[in-house]
Amino acid sequence: MKKIVLFASGGGSNAEQIMQYFDGKEAYSVVGVLTNNKNAGVIERAEKFDIPVQVFTREELNEGKVLQIVNEFAPDLIVLAGFLLKFPSDIIAAYPGKVINIHPALLPKYGGKGMYGINVHRAVLENKEKESGITIHYVNDNYDEGNIIYQHTVVIEHCTTPEEVALKVLALEHEHFPRVIEEILNK
Ligand code: GAR
Repeated sequence: MKKIVLFASGGGSNAEQIMQYFDGKEAYSVVGVLTNNKNAGVIERAEKFDIPVQVFTREELNEGKVLQIVNEFAPDLIVLAGFLLKFPSDIIAAYPGKVINIHPALLPKYGGKGMYGINVHRAVLENKEKESGITIHYVNDNYDEGNIIYQHTVVIEHCTTPEEVALKVLALEHEHFPRVIEEILNK
């Protein structure tokens, strides 16, 4: 059985799609959800699926405690689904090629520090882009710079607010992220 650990910081709608997709599939299991935010919506969503949640602090993330938690799960894949802190190099080094992230724009544009959530969509609109999209990529030690696994575009020329762009991009994330995770696990 292939084991998946999810990291999320907020609402967790992507995490929920992933938990739903793999729920009841015998070959895969979401074994844990880790969050840095004790008020994150993802906690309640994980409880619906009886998936254990661990809340940690930024210090614990950066001082090796979260690596220990991850090791106990022994995951085949670590998935960042709306995880907004810098991912620590100790976990990346311990799980080479096994940490992936979803970014709500077409990298390499609109990535880097501070580029998350609505900030990304605002920047895309300000630059009058006609298209945005999603990028699923491996995580390395630099924000949003790891090798790209999958991208999908969406037309946004009729969008006037960052929230409208966010909705279109989120729908794409929900549609494609779980399937791409399955493909990565079967490589
Ligand atoms: C998603 O759009 C995800 O791509 C983005 O945060 C949102 C989380 O939504 N991630 C980043 O911006 C990472 N740089 P969710 O909590 O509802 O899944």
